[in-house]
Amino acid sequence: MSETRLDERAAELDAADELGKRRELFALEDGTVYLDGNSLGALPRHVQDRMADVIGRQWGELRIRSWDESGWWTAPERIGERIAPLVGAGPGQIVVGDSTSVNVFKAMVAAVRMAPGDRDEILVDATAFPTDGYIAESAARLTGHRLVVVDPAGVPDAVGPRTAAALVNHVDYRTGRLHDLPGITAALHAQGALAVWDLCHSAGALPVGLDEHGVDLAVGCTYKYLNGGPGSPAYLYVAERHQDRFDSPLPGWNSHADPFGMTRGYRPAEGAARGRVGTPDILSMLALEAALDVWDGVTVEAVRAKSLALTDFFLECVEAYAPPGAVTPLTPAAHAERGSQVALACPAHPRSWRR
Ligand SMILES: Cc1ncc(COP(=O)(O)O)c(C=O)c1O
Repeated sequence: MSETRLDERAAELDAADELGKRRELFALEDGTVYLDGNSLGALPRHVQDRMADVIGRQWGELRIRSWDESGWWTAPERIGERIAPLVGAGPGQIVVGDSTSVNVFKAMVAAVRMAPGDRDEILVDATAFPTDGYIAESAARLTGHRLVVVDPAGVPDAVGPRTAAALVNHVDYRTGRLHDLPGITAALHAQGALAVWDLCHSAGALPVGLDEHGVDLAVGCTYKYLNGGPGSPAYLYVAERHQDRFDSPLPGWNSHADPFGMTRGYRPAEGAARGRVGTPDILSMLALEAALDVWDGVTVEAVRAKSLALTDFFLECVEAYAPPGAVTPLTPAAHAERGSQVALACPAHPRSWRR
């Protein structure tokens, strides 16, 4: 397609875009095309004012009273409820806090402790973000399990009666490949194993359906497609049916049934709060809470439709502009296998790019 035709198509797609006006909600200069939301989401403009209130009034004036009066203490569960509909979770199953890495650790050790019968094996996604592999290896060592590294598509063949749990990334962080969450979860369940999903590259970009597909545990970050800001806290999903048996390897005082009782013995809280550890990172957490307002009136399905249209169009432009053979798309062309990014392999530096 010619360059002019592509310009025209871009204008047509923009005109038909029901989410187009939402750009104004973000701090993006005119003319900027920001394509790094899969790494750090852009700043929703109103977060700055909200944080001025959090710092100036809640911290500066109310000080310690804000733990109750500004709802600081209950923020991890309250913000979890805001994330829940975005990942297809009913209420009471998500708690926000700590990093993704820390939540991977909690989820994997807890999954192994909950797995039925006598099992001695953990599966981990060979293509996962490296932190998942490191932590799964440590969780395996700590719990006396053998770690088996396998591609997501190989999980249904690799899982067996010895498998306690598997940790899989929903979308491959490098290629943008979307893995079959329903199929892999069902294959794990058929052998009695638990499914732990890392949603860092899918939450906020595409429908996940945690409850619908019977996922056991899930973790994800909030600084990418949820626009929570650099280092904003991650979240942990524990399916309601597992919460009574969720035995955290990090049972801090924030997850105690009576945290202010200051008793010596640990007694876990009920529900999602069981996934808490220590004092929440309130400033980052409240920036995330404010950022989630951009979802008001927006469905994940609408974002998914736009994301697919954008990645389709981007791939079309690559085909038109890149000299033959200069780049190879690693991101699958099929929508059912595509996350929300385009990854291109560049074997050699292209010398003659068409302008
Ligand atoms: C899939 C995936 N898992 C885990 C992480 C690491 O998360 P954190 O730095 O919040 O521990 C990332 C970071 O980009 C990621 O993409």
